[in-house]
Amino acid sequence: MTTKKNIYILAIESSCDDTSVAVLENDKVLSNVVANQEIHSQYGGVVPELASRAHQQNIIPVVHQALLKAKVNKKDLDAIAFTKGPGLLGSLLVGTSFAKSMALALNIPLISVNHMQAHILAHFIDDEKQQKPTFPFLCLTISGGHTQIVKINNYFDMEIIGETTDDAVGEAFDKSAKILGLPYPGGPLIDKYAQLGNPKAFEFPHPKTENPLDFSFSGLKTSILYFIQRNEAKDPNFIKDNLNDICASIQFTIVNILMEKIKLAIEKTGIQQIAIAGGVSANSGIRNVLQNASKEFGWKTYIPKFEYTTDNAAMIGIVGYHKYLEKDFDTLSVVATARMKF
Ligand code: KG4
Ligand code: ZN
Repeated sequence: MTTKKNIYILAIESSCDDTSVAVLENDKVLSNVVANQEIHSQYGGVVPELASRAHQQNIIPVVHQALLKAKVNKKDLDAIAFTKGPGLLGSLLVGTSFAKSMALALNIPLISVNHMQAHILAHFIDDEKQQKPTFPFLCLTISGGHTQIVKINNYFDMEIIGETTDDAVGEAFDKSAKILGLPYPGGPLIDKYAQLGNPKAFEFPHPKTENPLDFSFSGLKTSILYFIQRNEAKDPNFIKDNLNDICASIQFTIVNILMEKIKLAIEKTGIQQIAIAGGVSANSGIRNVLQNASKEFGWKTYIPKFEYTTDNAAMIGIVGYHKYLEKDFDTLSVVATARMKF
């Protein structure tokens, strides 16, 4: 009898401002190290040049740490997976070049991964704290760069059925936070203050889109800006005195917009399995509303473990593992791509 060999994959994620490296044994995560780049908070957003430079500084120590934590020797690795795109080109180039060099040095396969597919397939990481969806399911992919409703037919058969026509939902959170004078990234801060405020204190409009499954957040951002300017003109302490209520009302509006679209997508596709993915799926508002909706409407909902929501290399590793099983490898001439569809 032959026993099946375990597959060890080292995965690298460097698409934006987090340098992350993970080591997986099959679909289990042995380590998932994330080095955040604090440098950007003082600029109110990610500065691409500084991000690339920080990736250069972080990548070797983060790779070392990930291998050490996983207790895996680099000689035992079966493949190197890395984020090919979408993302900031300078940031992607650091991970891509490092992944190529490592695969070449170890003489093992190289596997390129689509970052957005990885956010979705993070649901297939084998972890006792999360349940794996069955196909087909819908995924609301909500991050700093994307907002999509995706129909997932299989690991690599995905179809975008709705997406933002302007800002991503993460940007809506971050830009609203900036209007309120909060540092970048403001999404988690809005979430934190929202939990102490009244979600119905203030009302903001829901945007209309030509395709009802698409999203639009730029109008919301403008209406929040005018609302703040109007109220600050009357009372200079308006933000300070109402921060929790303002954050709760913004979050309530955004979560309601997301839920309207999910309901419509379920109606149109008849699929009642809903997953969320991407950085904004860390938001407590969307998590609560989805959990309640699953009870109320009988939907099956999949909410990823917190550490697999924001950018991380474990999600790159799980895609790497499934591509490895398919022997879907890349050559050393593969190039990073800033804009990339599925
Ligand atoms: O997926 P991600 O880590 O990076 C991208 O690929 O964009 O998402 C980052 C986004 C940021 O806009 C951040 O503000 C938002 O996710 N975010 C949140 C929360 N945690 C992260 N937004 C709202 N509530 C949160 N708790
Ligand atoms: Zn992301």
